[in-house]
Amino acid sequence: MINSQNKEVLLKVVNLKKWFPMQHGLASLFAKEIKYVKAVDGINFEVYKGETFGIIGESGCGKTTTGKLIMRLLEPTDGKILLNNEDVAHIKGKELKNYRKNVQMIFQDPYASMNPRFRIRKVLEEPLVIHGVGNSRKYRDEVSKQLLESVKVTPAEDFMERFPHMLSGGQRQRVSIGRGITLSPSLIVADEPVSMIDLSTRAEILAMMNNLKREFGLTYIYITHDLSTARYFADRIAVMYLGRIIEIGSADDIVDNPIHPYTRVLINAVCEPLPGKVKVMKDIQIKGEIPSAARIPKGCRFHTRCLFATEDCINNPEPELIDAGNGHYHACSRASYLPAFKY
Ligand SMILES: Nc1ncnc2c1ncn2[C@@H]1O[C@H](COP(=O)(O)OP(=O)(O)OP(=O)(O)O)[C@@H](O)[C@H]1O
Ligand SMILES: [Mg+2]
Repeated sequence: MINSQNKEVLLKVVNLKKWFPMQHGLASLFAKEIKYVKAVDGINFEVYKGETFGIIGESGCGKTTTGKLIMRLLEPTDGKILLNNEDVAHIKGKELKNYRKNVQMIFQDPYASMNPRFRIRKVLEEPLVIHGVGNSRKYRDEVSKQLLESVKVTPAEDFMERFPHMLSGGQRQRVSIGRGITLSPSLIVADEPVSMIDLSTRAEILAMMNNLKREFGLTYIYITHDLSTARYFADRIAVMYLGRIIEIGSADDIVDNPIHPYTRVLINAVCEPLPGKVKVMKDIQIKGEIPSAARIPKGCRFHTRCLFATEDCINNPEPELIDAGNGHYHACSRASYLPAFKY
């Protein structure tokens, strides 16, 4: 599927929602109205073939839920998930099993996603066994060995016999990345893949993921709350706030030329002013706490924390994404009245 910007679209998400009901079983029968945690509340984006698409936002904004929806570990409440133009939002059975070969997820905690009683050999060959790929032990051993070499956990023969607890955190995450590419997926959803890793090895692992991307023709969705790794690692970034995307654009535009007040706050929180440059917006702050996803403010959902909000932001319907050119979109109807953002 080629879009209007002449990009080949691998994944397209349309009005995707995941609302978790707050009452279950009998309680839901007696409830006057069922209340929902609106973890993902109508998001739209495209992921281009071969790119790294970053999703950032603070804790609880719906990043992992978005990843799990794309993986189809969760059933969407509404919306479409198009992979290569085919809607997979509600596929089941064999179709879903095939889909899971093509889309893999890497989690924050590699230890939790590995059976501690399996040797690394078995951890790596598990996807092959589940999907009935390669019937001989020799073939599976050869694949495991090559994977360990690709993710630079060597000497491979030595590590194949170890158990997960005998590896460092960084090595374990490398193995789980290796397991993610075992079945040659086209899309990998990496949910905070380096946030539990030592600062000193984070960049190494991201650089390795970049090499794998080139070598195996992968596309990544990189989920993080860390804007600095997102800028380094992602080609484009979507910023989420309370279940919605409030800004989306190239990583450079998002960091150097943020439009939405929330994105500006995120950037101010991490960026030190560059030497010789004054951060004009340094007084940009945020009010209060993030509201609960069970009680989303009406109007612009950010208005309760926004220093620039007016009555219109409360009373008008929530703005859809507004085109600022160059593939940069934002959801702030006051954008043209905001002071310029300069470092
Ligand atoms: N199974 C569930 N049932 C009910 N509510 C849920 C469930 N999973 C997530 N939530 C809620 O949905 C919202 C989004 O959660 P999610 O885990 O997607 O956030 P996140 O952006 O990944 O946060 P973090 O940065 O902490 O990982 C939160 O309010 C969370 O409490
Ligand atoms: Mg998460």
